[in-house]
Amino acid sequence: MPFNRHRRLRQNEAIRKMIREHHIHTEDLIYPIFVVAGEGVKEEVPSMPGVFHFSIDQLQEEIQEVMDLGITSIIVFGVPAEKDECGSGADHEQGIVQSAIRHIKASFPQLYVISDTCLCQFTSHGHCGVIENREVANDASLERLVSTAISQAQAGADMIAPSNMMDGFVAAIRQGLDEAGFTDTPILSYAVKYASSFYGPFRDAAHSTPQFGDRRTYQMDPANAREALREAYSDVEEGADLLMVKPGLAYLDIIHRIRETFHLPIVAYQVSGEYAMIKAAAQNGWIEEKQVVLESMTSFKRAGADMILTYYAKDIARWQLN
Ligand code: PBG
Repeated sequence: MPFNRHRRLRQNEAIRKMIREHHIHTEDLIYPIFVVAGEGVKEEVPSMPGVFHFSIDQLQEEIQEVMDLGITSIIVFGVPAEKDECGSGADHEQGIVQSAIRHIKASFPQLYVISDTCLCQFTSHGHCGVIENREVANDASLERLVSTAISQAQAGADMIAPSNMMDGFVAAIRQGLDEAGFTDTPILSYAVKYASSFYGPFRDAAHSTPQFGDRRTYQMDPANAREALREAYSDVEEGADLLMVKPGLAYLDIIHRIRETFHLPIVAYQVSGEYAMIKAAAQNGWIEEKQVVLESMTSFKRAGADMILTYYAKDIARWQLN
């Protein structure tokens, strides 16, 4: 007879619930919103069924729904009408992100609004920094990113989330925000961001595919884990308030290592490719969408994430309510 009977604690849902180690709360979720120029636009992103581009005038209903579902925070991505070499739209007072944040905050002051800080949606070449001699120039990019972050804070962003992977971006943005009077605006650093093929659908959605080369000179090599800790150490030293790991599901080991090493809150990003894979399989009837999504969320939590940035946030909130 077996001495250890693990099945004793699995006999029914009551005991399974009592001993459950991890839970998903709607407050843990951050919902991404894509804002585009124009009027009357609500267009589905082809590679991300259920995810839409909204023009500012169409945001009201969407955000009301988000609030009604109990989701407390969103992250705003902007898709500008025009792009240029240095990404002038990124830090413009009337830029798409700044205008959207102002609009959202005016109607929903309680909603916690996070602003993605990057140049790739705004540059004609699609890179996350400025180009000098066909290279992404680190230090010249920092200046642009600092002024982008400040302009987003001025528009009312509650939190700045730099996703550009330039060296020194946290320190530069922290100093810039402090000097501009935003000492209390936290920085959620995309500390560990891999050069991943899972971003494909996002680049369709944000029109931000690099026009030459790729992002491997600034985003991390998927083969490296120790390097993730070095990246995170730098960001913590530079003053990051929260750390992001991205993508999510293929990088649970990284989330776990960051959890073991640092004591800052951790955000896992379930990226566009993860969303698209689940959606496509579900639409074919090959997997059960709800179960697969909730299992992924539980895995993020088990690995050590405190929060999850996911295109599924509204669905998850809805499932929690029912
Ligand atoms: C911008 C940015 C990207 C994502 C979030 N912010 C794209 C990239 O690095 O190409 C990807 C998000 C996703 O795939 O859902 N730098």
